[in-house]
Amino acid sequence: MQRIVVLTGAGISQESGLQTFRGEDGLWNHERISDICTPEGFARDPLRVDRFYNGLRAGLAHVHPNAAHKALARLEECSNAGTWDGELLIVTQNIDDLHERAGSRNIIHMHGELMRVRCTSCGATPPWHTDCLPQTPCPTCHRPTLRPDVVWFGEIPYHMDRIDRALRQCDLFVAIGTSGVVYPAAGFVQLAGTHADTMEFNMEPSAGNALFDQAILGPATKTVPLWVRDLLNG
Ligand code: APR
Repeated sequence: MQRIVVLTGAGISQESGLQTFRGEDGLWNHERISDICTPEGFARDPLRVDRFYNGLRAGLAHVHPNAAHKALARLEECSNAGTWDGELLIVTQNIDDLHERAGSRNIIHMHGELMRVRCTSCGATPPWHTDCLPQTPCPTCHRPTLRPDVVWFGEIPYHMDRIDRALRQCDLFVAIGTSGVVYPAAGFVQLAGTHADTMEFNMEPSAGNALFDQAILGPATKTVPLWVRDLLNG
């Protein structure tokens, strides 16, 4: 039985129409990370940060999972059905819900989720589908202390223990559509690479390219379904 951990980044959702963070038309070309994606930025101007994430959340209504998301969901489905002798865990840095909408269930959102908010008073993380503003009350404790349920720079990503265990036990580690500059995710290839095969799928060689055994370059909607087809054909 083959145990695969797939790490996904913004590149897997790019062909669904979502902007990546870096690169020519990346989100961080228009906004400063320190204004939006840090606890200090949120403390300075919560309205600005809420509006940024409200925009991204609203944008999800207009996009759909693509062939790469669907191929990974099919692999999990075949694992569950026993038609593929393997196990797949997706660890995503993405805060969109396209993996789930494609059908993936064994998934960890290490950087949080756009479709949830978090109450800094009571810790509730309710599902959230509309706009959230600084005065919006928490549905659980009713205090106006909600924030995006997103892991910002300087904060610890979610479920690191579970991710660490899966990386230590996997036979194959695959990174798809991630630039390999943001830690800890950028370090997963080194941890897995001590015992597992490693592959990256990207448009161009990522910052960590030299650490992977193999790189498949091209759009994820073309390369990932072919890889999954080959896996399923043994
Ligand atoms: N197919 C495959 N790869 C693609 C595609 C595509 N269609 N389009 C873009 N890419 C690649 C780019 O070449 C780039 O290497 O996807 C990568 C996207 O990189 P980033 O924009 O840096 O996104 P990511 O690696 O997910 O960012 C990591 O940074 O700001 C934080 O928290 C944010 O989770 C995010 C983290």
